[in-house]
Amino acid sequence: MTLSVAISTACLALSTGAAAETWKMAIGDAAGGTQYELGKTFAEQIEKRSDGEITVDLFPNSQLGSEQDTLNNASMGMLDLSIIAINNITPFSPTVGVLTLPYVIQGAEDAKTLTQGEVGEELTENTIRDAGVRILGWAYSGCRRLSNSERPVSSPEDLDGLVIRVPKNEIMMASYQAWGVNPNPMAWSETFTALQQGVVDGQDNPYITIDAMKFYEVQDYITDSCYVFSLEPLVMGEGAYQALSEENKELVKKAGEAATQHSYDYLQETEEKIKTRLVEEEGIEITEPDNNEEEWISQATSIWPDFYDSIGGKEKLDHVLEVLGREPA
Ligand code: MLT
Repeated sequence: MTLSVAISTACLALSTGAAAETWKMAIGDAAGGTQYELGKTFAEQIEKRSDGEITVDLFPNSQLGSEQDTLNNASMGMLDLSIIAINNITPFSPTVGVLTLPYVIQGAEDAKTLTQGEVGEELTENTIRDAGVRILGWAYSGCRRLSNSERPVSSPEDLDGLVIRVPKNEIMMASYQAWGVNPNPMAWSETFTALQQGVVDGQDNPYITIDAMKFYEVQDYITDSCYVFSLEPLVMGEGAYQALSEENKELVKKAGEAATQHSYDYLQETEEKIKTRLVEEEGIEITEPDNNEEEWISQATSIWPDFYDSIGGKEKLDHVLEVLGREPA
């Protein structure tokens, strides 16, 4: 039986109240990170709220493929669920790029305001339209911090000569180009090995992700920068979602909301502790960006106009900034 047939059969079984079903969830990060926390809570909620009729099996650490592959598979009905970083959805649904424009989201409160309000609802609709997946919940993973194996980096000039891995995301590549380096775009699933083998010297991701992925084994320095806030949605293929009974649509909605809340609380409770652990137990050296990050900010935000078309116009960015209580671009 092919996986897509298995999913249709699963949906039929649910709607007729027949045998219990198991859904598969791909997770890009290792267990212990925010993606895993979101997925685990969603799975617990689904099992509890369906009285054990539905269970969800978690496959962390990109076991089911790269994040962009699992997005495709969910979209085509070959996989039930996937958790992937927002930056890896943007290539399929460009308007989502407004959430990865550098320095738009400046912390967890901004991230929550955007994802749990009308901006998040519109982006969810756009993602269904463009990428064929529905966002059911969000992991809040924290600011992306630059890590590297070579030296402390406090200003964009310090990047000179470093090879930095970035996701295959044009906005993030352009941000590094604005800082004067040519980054190396690479799938998330290949990043640890590339760091370990010295193919690249550095990358950026939140403290919680750096810890869960054990990047401290191959990185020595972290810059306490915050150019993008890492949002990581849980998605379900829209075809599979539409095949659910009304009752099960409500079930996944409620489970997604509970998992999202847990993810937010988890970030608040653990981020500082993990940062301290990385320094005290793993010997990571943390460097503050010079000048309150001003050079980083002015150079990176100079790329905003290059992406107005892809995000749906400057007015989309201005609206997001207004929702966050800031001045238009
Ligand atoms: C990436 O850097 O590609 C992702 O943001 C990593 C992740 O999914 O945690």
